[in-house]
Order: sequence, then C-alpha cells, then structure tokens
Amino acid sequence: MSNISWKELPFGYYKTDYNVRCYYRNGKWGELETTDSENITMHMAATCLHYGQEAFEGLKAFRGVDGKIRLFRPYENAKRLIRSANGVMMAPVPEDLFVKACVEVVKKNERFVPPSGSGASLYLRPLLIGTGAEVGVKPANEYLFIVFAGPVGPYFKEGFKPVKMQIVEDADRAAPLGTGTLKVGGNYAASLYSGQRAHDEGFSNCIYLDAKEKKYIDEAGAANFFGIKNNTYVTPKSTSILPSITNMSLRELAEEMGLKVEQRHIPVEELSTFDEVAACGTAAVVSPISLIVDRGTGKEYNFSNEPGTVCTKLYNTLKGIQEGLIEDKHNWNLIIETK
Ligand code: PLP
Ligand code: COI
Repeated sequence: MSNISWKELPFGYYKTDYNVRCYYRNGKWGELETTDSENITMHMAATCLHYGQEAFEGLKAFRGVDGKIRLFRPYENAKRLIRSANGVMMAPVPEDLFVKACVEVVKKNERFVPPSGSGASLYLRPLLIGTGAEVGVKPANEYLFIVFAGPVGPYFKEGFKPVKMQIVEDADRAAPLGTGTLKVGGNYAASLYSGQRAHDEGFSNCIYLDAKEKKYIDEAGAANFFGIKNNTYVTPKSTSILPSITNMSLRELAEEMGLKVEQRHIPVEELSTFDEVAACGTAAVVSPISLIVDRGTGKEYNFSNEPGTVCTKLYNTLKGIQEGLIEDKHNWNLIIETK
C-alpha cells in the first residue's frame, strides 16, 4: 500500500501509475492502450482546442469493508458520455469500451484505491476530445478517449458538514436549450468566473437560476440541488442541468425510505420552506447547505449548521451501498476482480 495520508486528501489531481487511452481513427475505435505518461501530444488545430469538442465523466471506486473494490454505476456514466458525445458531434465511446477502460484503470492503479473507512475514494476521470485538425467550424474526424484516476477526499473541504452557497443572478452556466444537460467543458468554463467570485466572497460554490426567467433553482455549481420538506424530496426539473447519477440514486433511495419524490420547478422563495437543502453529485456526494445568500437581492436563507436527519440517512445509505456495508439491491456496484 502506498504511503498516502488518505484522510488528508483534497479533491484534486493526484499522479498515479497508469492511464488508459483509445483512439478513434478512420471511422472506428482502436485497441485500449495503457500508458504511464501524463501527457498527450496533439495537433494545434485539434477541434477540442478551438471549438470545445470535449466531454468528460466522473465516477468513483471504493474499497469495501470486505476488501473488494466497487465501481459505482459505470454504465450510467457510459450512457451519459454517449449523450454528451452526440450532443457536440463527437464519436461516441461504446458502453463496453467505456466500462472496460474504467475497470482497467482501477486494476492498474489498485494501490491508489483508498482503504475502507478512510473517507477517500478513487476518482475516475474519463475524457473524450476531438483531436482531428480543422479550422472550419465542424466536427473532427479523429478522437481520443482517456481514463485517468486518482485518490480524492471530499469535494468541499467541509466534508459531510453543511456548506454555504450563493445564488447568482448575473451569470448562467448554460442556456435553456443549450448544452447544460451534457457534461461538456464549455459549461464549466462558463461557471469559472462566478464560481471563483463565490469562493472569494466566502461561499463554497454558487447556485444558478434558470437562465430564461431567473425564478427557479437550476444547478448547484458542479452538483444538483435538492430540498426536503413534508416528507418529500424535491429536486429541480430543468432543461439546463446535468442529469446527476447521484441524484437519480438518491431519488430511488428516498422513495424506498417512504419519502415522496418531486422533480419540478423550485421558485427561489420556496427555499425558506425547506427543512433541509443540499447539493449532490459524485464529487459532492451529499453536501448539506447551511446558508444560501441571494447575491442579487441580499436575501438570506438559513438552515441548520448540522446535517439534517434525512440528508444524513440518504448519505449513510448511499455510502453504505458504495462501500459494501448495505446490500446492493439495485445492482449499482460493479465489483472489480483483482488478484
Ligand atoms: N451537475 C454538474 C454540473 C456536475 O458537474 C455534476 C458532476 O458530475 C453533477 C451535477 C452531479 O452528477 P453525478 O451525480 O452524475 O456526478
Ligand atoms: C463530479 O462530481 O464528478 C464532477 O464532475 C464535479 C466536478 C469536479 C466537475
């Protein structure tokens, strides 16, 4: 086992031993290759550099109490990358190739999968880029698919402790009929300025409103939003947010816990009626929110400084399934066979 301080790991890049790659040329995907190089060489006119032909994914592998390594819902990430690829006219990575590459990267970097109970996990970052050279605005004819991985700690430094968020009215990450439902780099570029400003102003991240009417909660930074009230799990319905695999899983778990689930518009003023609010995602897991400040109006929405009971139950159930403590009734985990 590596000499890594698992408990102190931030959410960030960590050099590991190998990454895996696959090239799309002449209309077909080649063989998976494993490399120890962190670099890629590409043509200066590659479409990913000029026209944003780029999409990525994020998923985690966990070491369970039984020592087994579990990859959480990789086929869902595979499907989403196909949607993202089609959305920006890239060659889609077949599901099986995607999962094979993920399994391979975990196996090759097994010594970096954090021990059970450390609170850390191995984060996988699949990446698809247009590498073919073009100057006209059109899709490339060559693509590169890479999966790299590294051990990570919590996305928000607070861990499972409530964070503060800022509603922004003067920035959108995606248009209503734009690329918000895709995991493409441009959405993140569009969020950098407001995200950094939120940090500088003392918040963990910002909450975007629907870009058209500026009335409804949309995306919570690089995570989805949900609120709890009247025994109901409420999460935004929107054409500009990423369909989060964590949120999808939590909705199922919430229903199994006897909560009602609603996917609908959430007007900003409704925030004051929730008992608990949180952000959710692969990196964010479940991040309860203690304070939301509307940057435009100055209005504050206060919640508990401690994680609420429903958020805690959802968090513990999700983590329990991912770490093999709770039966995986849904078959969400892919167990990775290691020597
Ligand atoms: N929303 C955005 C913008 C994200 O980047 C992510 C992270 O992937 C999510 C939501 C959460 O999605 P998931 O739960 O699939 O990781
Ligand atoms: C994830 O949760 O996997 C994300 O993509 C969030 C962020 C690091 C982009």
